[in-house]
Amino acid sequence: MCGIIGITGNKVNPEKAINMLSRLDYRGYDSAGIALNTGERVEIEKGKGKIQQAINKEKLPNRSEVALSHTRWSTHGEPSQENAHPHTDCEGEIAVVHNGIIHNHDELKEKLEKKGHEFCSDTDTEVIPHLIEERLNGREKNRKEVLKTIKKVKEQIKGEYAVVVSLKGRKELYGFKKDSPLCIGINPDGEENYFSSDIYSFSHLTNQSIALEDGEKALITPKGYQIYNGSLQKINRQPEKFEWNQEKTNKEEEHHMLSEIKEQPEAVKRLLKKQNEEGLGRLTQLIKNHERTVLTASGTSYHASLLGAHLLQDAGRETQAIIASEYQNYIKPGEKTLTIGVSQSGETMDVVKALKHAEQRNSTTSSIVNVPKTTIPRKTQHSVKIHAGQEIAVASTKTFTNQVTTFARISNQLGEQKNIKKLPIKIEKTINKNEETIKDLSKQLKEEKHIYIIGEGPTYPIAREIALKLKEIPYIHAEGMMGGELKHGTLALIENNTPVISLRTNDKMLKTEEEIRSKGAKIIPISTETELEIPEGNKIEKALCTNTIGQLLSYYTAKERNCPIDRPRNLAKAVTVQ
Ligand code: AGP
Repeated sequence: MCGIIGITGNKVNPEKAINMLSRLDYRGYDSAGIALNTGERVEIEKGKGKIQQAINKEKLPNRSEVALSHTRWSTHGEPSQENAHPHTDCEGEIAVVHNGIIHNHDELKEKLEKKGHEFCSDTDTEVIPHLIEERLNGREKNRKEVLKTIKKVKEQIKGEYAVVVSLKGRKELYGFKKDSPLCIGINPDGEENYFSSDIYSFSHLTNQSIALEDGEKALITPKGYQIYNGSLQKINRQPEKFEWNQEKTNKEEEHHMLSEIKEQPEAVKRLLKKQNEEGLGRLTQLIKNHERTVLTASGTSYHASLLGAHLLQDAGRETQAIIASEYQNYIKPGEKTLTIGVSQSGETMDVVKALKHAEQRNSTTSSIVNVPKTTIPRKTQHSVKIHAGQEIAVASTKTFTNQVTTFARISNQLGEQKNIKKLPIKIEKTINKNEETIKDLSKQLKEEKHIYIIGEGPTYPIAREIALKLKEIPYIHAEGMMGGELKHGTLALIENNTPVISLRTNDKMLKTEEEIRSKGAKIIPISTETELEIPEGNKIEKALCTNTIGQLLSYYTAKERNCPIDRPRNLAKAVTVQ
């Protein structure tokens, strides 16, 4: 789960590489590095920590024709300068950045060491430049030989990877991939081109990209690109235009997470305006044409799917939501099953694998995704966009709201009558009405070690989602559950003053609250008539307004605890490993 970038151009400088890399830091942020290839030498600057502290640009040449850069989320080898990318061969002439995991790296390293190669990191990646060096040893380093070498290296490595390679003396970059994402960006001025893990790194420079498929290899030069298939035959593929909303909202806050929470009314309005009726109609038709629908996703997108399943059930369709990493253990897909992958990033490996498994067993596949041109929409037979725009904070907030709104629209197309036109204004009201109360409450909650959140029906997924946010951002252990389930075990953990947030949607919850209050719990209710107050509305509106309160509570509690809100420890925005 790293971000990789390659730039070829006539005036590539460290600033440009750092700027593009900063746009990918949500993919990983424990270390970072840059290689600048001036033709005569390959200069590398890398280190531990976030990009600005890891890379001292003063140490780099201020101009080159080729640059590689990498922001890391470690899987093999702790975050350190040695383990940061780019990695090189013995001579420091071949530089490589990699996203993914090379599973057979131990065995390859042993063989290479026997041949005299010296390694200086604990990473799996370092075998790649040494394998290239080994194959090129004694050969001309021309384009033909480099491509043949890459083909050979691909045969040797096992795992998931997107790799970009730079060789001293060559004004071009080589890229290849399997399972991890890699795309090419084509600059319209004809003087610069890019490799990247995703379009966001170059979406301020161009709106034209090409997604590479597994098995393909590609090279880019300042003026062009070439793609090759597995047998090194040239492939003719034209760039595609993409549309990607990066508008700055007028709600620029101290953290991206708060800006994105406050942007939700706008994000829903954008969805209502832009979400293609035709595409949504096709998905609704697919749901109708299949006996059952399975929604598969991870984390927050799974919670949106749980609520989605509830809404589709309401509309009379047999639907279940399953965590993507468990799809194979719990679902027997087949022709009668429609599998819908739900994902903000469009790259979550667990979802990619679940969909692959579904397709291999003849299930029709579709997806609901935020980031365009990513693996999931490309690999499914049909896809719907949610138009939330760029979400930078690791915590998913506005994308959850737009995923649920999408499910609400589908259920309406299936015959439900849930008006969501007033949703933006109701979310806005919820924020305005509760923000100050939440700031005070977060001062009380900041020392808590455990928080329980109870819901039922449509607020059960919201209870789970609020719990996830409380774990992820202020690092408080939280459990989100069905109110009715508490008495079957968890009640034993309720002590004097244990905080229990009750998503009180009906009188049944009052009874549960009474029961836990008698055990000493401190009840914090959210309802249409309590201090934490949501507006009256239908179940979707109420659920999403309740969730907004949970988002703000997590945010302000994390602020009270001085947590790194937008970049929580050990996490990354796009989880591209299994
Ligand atoms: C939520 O705040 C997290 N960032 C995480 O749970 C996330 O929702 C999950 O990793 C799935 O990501 P996706 O939506 O990009 O597939």
